[in-house]
Amino acid sequence: MNRLIIASNRLPVSIQWQNNSFLVFPSAGGLATGLKSYHKNNNSLWIGWPGINASNQNEEKTITGLLLKEACLPVFLSQDLVEKFYDGFSNATLWPLLHYFTEYTEFKGAYWEAYQTVNQLFADAIIANAKEGDTIWVHDYQLLLVPQMIREQRPDLRIGFFLHIPFPSFEVFRILPWRLEIVNGILGADLIGFHTFDYARHFISSVKRLLGYEVDFNKISVGNRHVYIDVFPMGIDYKKFEQRAIEIQNKPMHERSKEHQDIDRFLLGAPNRKLILSIDRLDYTKGIPERLHAFRNFLNKYPEYKEQVSLIMLTVPSRVDVEQYQNLRSEVEKLVGSINGEFGTINWNPVIYFYRSLPFENLIELYSSADIALLTPLRDGMNLVAKEYIASKVNHRGVLILSEMAGAAKELGEALIVNPNNVDEVSEAIYKALTLSNQEQVKAITAMQERITRYNVYKWAADFIQMLEKTESRQAAYQARKVSAKHKNQFKHQFAEAKSKILFLDYDGTLQRFYNNPKDAIPDNDLVSLLNELSLIKNTELVLISGRDKNTLNEWFGKKDYTLIAEHGAWIKTGNQGWKARNTSHSKWKENIRPVLEFYVDRTPGSLIEEKTNSLVWHYRKVDIELGALRALELKNDVTNLISNQDLELLEGSKVLEVKVAGINKGNAALEYLQDKKPEFLMAIGDDWTDEFLFKELPDETITIKVGTDKSVAKYYVSDYQEVRELLKTFY
Ligand code: UDP
Ligand code: G6P
Repeated sequence: MNRLIIASNRLPVSIQWQNNSFLVFPSAGGLATGLKSYHKNNNSLWIGWPGINASNQNEEKTITGLLLKEACLPVFLSQDLVEKFYDGFSNATLWPLLHYFTEYTEFKGAYWEAYQTVNQLFADAIIANAKEGDTIWVHDYQLLLVPQMIREQRPDLRIGFFLHIPFPSFEVFRILPWRLEIVNGILGADLIGFHTFDYARHFISSVKRLLGYEVDFNKISVGNRHVYIDVFPMGIDYKKFEQRAIEIQNKPMHERSKEHQDIDRFLLGAPNRKLILSIDRLDYTKGIPERLHAFRNFLNKYPEYKEQVSLIMLTVPSRVDVEQYQNLRSEVEKLVGSINGEFGTINWNPVIYFYRSLPFENLIELYSSADIALLTPLRDGMNLVAKEYIASKVNHRGVLILSEMAGAAKELGEALIVNPNNVDEVSEAIYKALTLSNQEQVKAITAMQERITRYNVYKWAADFIQMLEKTESRQAAYQARKVSAKHKNQFKHQFAEAKSKILFLDYDGTLQRFYNNPKDAIPDNDLVSLLNELSLIKNTELVLISGRDKNTLNEWFGKKDYTLIAEHGAWIKTGNQGWKARNTSHSKWKENIRPVLEFYVDRTPGSLIEEKTNSLVWHYRKVDIELGALRALELKNDVTNLISNQDLELLEGSKVLEVKVAGINKGNAALEYLQDKKPEFLMAIGDDWTDEFLFKELPDETITIKVGTDKSVAKYYVSDYQEVRELLKTFY
């Protein structure tokens, strides 16, 4: 039976040493808490770090035994690796950088070394446990190299990757010295998931800028594979929270948690006192000091609320060995002390602060008794606490104040959305929340509940896995059309057997690689001899069919006795005869179009115009990749309007836009060349959009081959120009 293997640094449970034995505790943090329910109900194995060092094999055995009961498998890390991989590269390099805290980001070679080592340990553990047909789902920023490491050894496995934290804009990501390795690592996956569209967009932009890969909506062409990018906002186990909240409503106080009893005692003197709740790991991304400043500001602005409202702050210890987290703790504790000192009375603590984690049951008690949840991270991939608070509000009363910087804000639009850096805005939101009518509360909470019930964690995981499977079948359909060794043999055999044969070969991107300046793509010695050899084969007609202007083709191949078709079919030169125009046309139109193209050249550094007899071409291969794509779109719009009533058409090639006289294309040029010829072997190879005419028009029995991974009507695919050359060399 096929299995799902989940891999993340943090397991759903962590092992701790207490009272002379190892004990199992639930882990905090969105990834572990969110995915736990799905894991429990599925036939999955979860591979991760147990959160503790084992000092000998016996301890490893004990820990492994405890974890196996939870369907988890440990990857043990030495103390040194924990310091450099976990505290270091994961939490002092990637975490701050991906959350836009560039000032906290440390770049250390030793951290990077350890990161690679640990990622390899994870990949090895996954591979050791993966059977044929298993699905692998790798999670989060600690394991960014794992997808590629698995793929290198096991290309047969289905690999998904999900990032639980933000992916920043390229301007921030580019700072990372190991940005290329990281992006390549992630691209080892078949499907890459993000919480929000913005993170996905930023990732795609980094891929384009760093690697120049072609992107077609959410599909990236990586060598001979397609990698899909999609958005899956993570949900929670809604029913679990809802049911527990209903049970708690009827639970007597003495059965509730100590924290809750404390809070309740505290409320005894003031039953109408409102409770504002915030829960987060003690992390600088969560905006805890900023939140306290906003609360202080609120108390100053609205003194009538003194003794009427308390902020309960549950901060969960997190990454305690990382310096920034230690500094944050003392900053927060000082601030709490100063606010309580400034405003507190014998009967009232403005801020009730806990530095600890709470089990699920007790969390729900807090959620259900809080009038307001104040969640104001400066950056947060998702923020599941926001969703948990909403789910626990079974009486539909309560207000959520949520930072616009949290991924969850995209789904929870009915919350009071704030900029966490704006102290005034946050304190006003607190006031608004305290004065919001019951009717408005019910309306907002109900709307949000409906949404998060539907897209719960089960739906989230099922959607991801389903998409991953679909990706695989799309991949399979593409791979089936890849020219394999078997196909090559078959073509070679057919070619040798045929009494008459014709080869239509495109030039740029097909026989030769792309150059920034098209003039540099001069045929190299290897190519010259390949073409010579082909043209010497008996009963073989070689036709170079290119978008190039006739002068360039003439310069490079004019003395050869094979056929040249230039400018997408506008000109033809057969053997030793001169060039013949297929369609003589006026060129007055150029006077109208040229200024438009010139305007784009002026605004687009690196682009250039090429003039051909029947066309004008705007090249943008040297242009910044995103600017190029944007300008191409604009130019397409402008030109399409201009040429609508003329006998002109717009062709889109690889990083070129070409305006040309209509009615001429490679397809009809090739057909005209063929006329009554009925070769026993007919092959056409091309790489871009203009070659699709060729593939479409030629007779059905033609072996049509597309270079690259873009969608095509061709029957077969090859990866690049080198593969084309290898294939053609088998013919002699
Ligand atoms: N959580 C917990 N115990 C606590 C406090 C929080 O298990 O004492 C859980 C909480 O229920 C939530 C998760 O930790 O599911 C925090 O996830 P979130 O996405 O809000 O933030 P992250 O910690 O992942 O940055
Ligand atoms: C965030 C990260 C998780 C991580 C969690 C807790 O949710 O996305 O990958 O597990 O924080 O952090 P920790 O360092 O304790 O695993």
